[in-house]
Amino acid sequence: MNTPTLPPTVPGLPILGNAPAFIMSNGISVEFLQKIQQSHGDLVHFKALNQSFYLVSSAELIREVLLERMQEVVKLDSETEGAPRGLRRFLGNGILTANYDDWRPQRKLIQPLLHTKQIAKYADTIGAMGERMLAGWQDGETRNIHADMTQVTLWVIADTMFGIDFQQSTELEQAGRMAQKIVVDDLVNPLPGWLTGRDAKAERINTLLTQLVTQFLEEHRTHPNRERHDLLSVLLDTRDEDGKPLSDELLRDNILTMFFAGHETTANTLSWALYYLAKNPAVLQALQAEVDVALADGHTPTLADLPRLPYTQMVLKETMRIQPTVAMIPRLVAKDITLGGYALKAGAVLLISPYVQHHNPQKWQTPTVFDPTRFSAESEANIGKYDYLPFGAGPRICIGNHFAMMEGQILLALVVRHYDLQLPVGSVVEPLRQITCEPENGLAMLLHKR
Ligand code: HEM
Repeated sequence: MNTPTLPPTVPGLPILGNAPAFIMSNGISVEFLQKIQQSHGDLVHFKALNQSFYLVSSAELIREVLLERMQEVVKLDSETEGAPRGLRRFLGNGILTANYDDWRPQRKLIQPLLHTKQIAKYADTIGAMGERMLAGWQDGETRNIHADMTQVTLWVIADTMFGIDFQQSTELEQAGRMAQKIVVDDLVNPLPGWLTGRDAKAERINTLLTQLVTQFLEEHRTHPNRERHDLLSVLLDTRDEDGKPLSDELLRDNILTMFFAGHETTANTLSWALYYLAKNPAVLQALQAEVDVALADGHTPTLADLPRLPYTQMVLKETMRIQPTVAMIPRLVAKDITLGGYALKAGAVLLISPYVQHHNPQKWQTPTVFDPTRFSAESEANIGKYDYLPFGAGPRICIGNHFAMMEGQILLALVVRHYDLQLPVGSVVEPLRQITCEPENGLAMLLHKR
C-alpha cells in the first residue's frame, strides 16, 4: 500500500493564510474555491488564519465522505467539547446539526412528515399562500421580491409544520442574517467569541429565538387541532424506549431547525429563479408558454398540475445549479484519515462545494449560462449525482427536498402566470454567501400584470 502524502497546498500569506481570499466582505468566496480546484485539483489544502481546510471536488471522494465515512468526517462542531460553536450555537443538537448517533432517531421521527404522500397534502396550502401574496401586489409597482418570497415560504412552513399563521418580522430576518455571520466567523476567526463579541451577539439572538419557540408552542396549545399530524404534534407526542418525551432543548432545537431550514432556502431559490428569468427573456417566454397552457383558466396550481409543468421544474433545477443556495457543505475531519491517497489531519474542515461542482467546466458546458434544458429528461440522465448536489447527498441529504421542489414549482408557476417581472434599469444584484446564499440587498423588481 502506498504511503499517504499530504495534499497539494495553496500558498498563502504569513499568519492570515488564504483568509482574505476565502472570506470576503459579502461572505464566502466561491470564486476562490473554484480557482484552487482548477489550479490544484480535486483535493486541495489551504489555511485561513490557523484553521486548515480541504476542498474535495471529485465525485468519487464526495461520495466516500458523505456516504461511507460519516463517522470519521462529521458534521461541523458536532463533536467539539465546551461551549457550542457555529450553527450549534442556535440549533443545538437538532436534526441538522446533531452528530451521527444523536441524529438517527431524529431523522426517523421527522422523515415521515416529509414523505411524498404526506407532502401532497401541503400543495393546497402552498397555492393558497401564493394567492395571498399576489393579493398584495399591484400592477406597475416596484417591490422587494425577495421579501415576498421570504414571507410566502414562511407562511407555508409555519402552517404546514406548525399549524400557525406567521408574519415575517424584520427583527427575525436581521437575527437570521447576523446568526449566519457569526457561524462564518466561528469557522475562521481564531479569537475567542467572548473577545470578539460573537458570544454576546449569539446570546441576544438566542433570546429572540427562544421567544419564537414559546410563541409557537403557545399558539399550538391555544388552537389545538387533534386531526392535524404536524411537526409540533409529532415532536410533542414522541416517547423514547423508556417512555420519556423529547427534552425541552431538543424540542426547541428541532422547531428552530425546521423553521429556518424549511423556508429560507426555498425563498432564496425562488428569488434567484425570478432574477435569472428576468435576465433571460427567452427562458421566461418558454416558461410562460407552459404555464399558460397548464393554468389556462388562471386557476391556482395544485398537485394535479405538476406533471404538466416539467419546464417549471427544469427552471428551478437550473437555478439551483447556477446559484445553489447552500454553496458550501462543511464537515469536520474527526480523526486522522487517508482520503484519495492523501493524509488528512484531524481538526481540519473538509469542504464540499455544490457551487464548485455545478460550475466545473469539465462537467458542464458553458457553466455560466442559464439553460434549463440541461435538465430535460434525456439530458438529466447524464448528470452525475455528485456533480449536481443542491440538496447535499447521502443519509444527511436534505429532508425537505421533495417539499421544496413542489413548493417551488407551484409558487413559480403562479407568479409567472400572472406577472412579468423585470429588474429596474441599472440594478445590481450581488449574492451574499454565508450558510445560505441570498441577494445581498434584497431583489427589487418591477411588476407588470399579464
Ligand atoms: C431549495 C430548498 C432547499 C435547499 C437548497 C436545501 C439544501 C439542503 C442541504 C444542502 C442540506 C444538507 C446539509 C449537509 O449535508 O450538511 C439540507 C439539509 C436539511 N434540510 Fe434542506 N434545503 C431546502 C429546503 C428544505 C426544506 C423545505 C426543509 C424542511 C421542510 C429542509 C430541511 C432540512 C433539514 C432538516 C436538513 C438536515 C437533514 C439531516 O441532517 O438529516 N430543507 N438542506
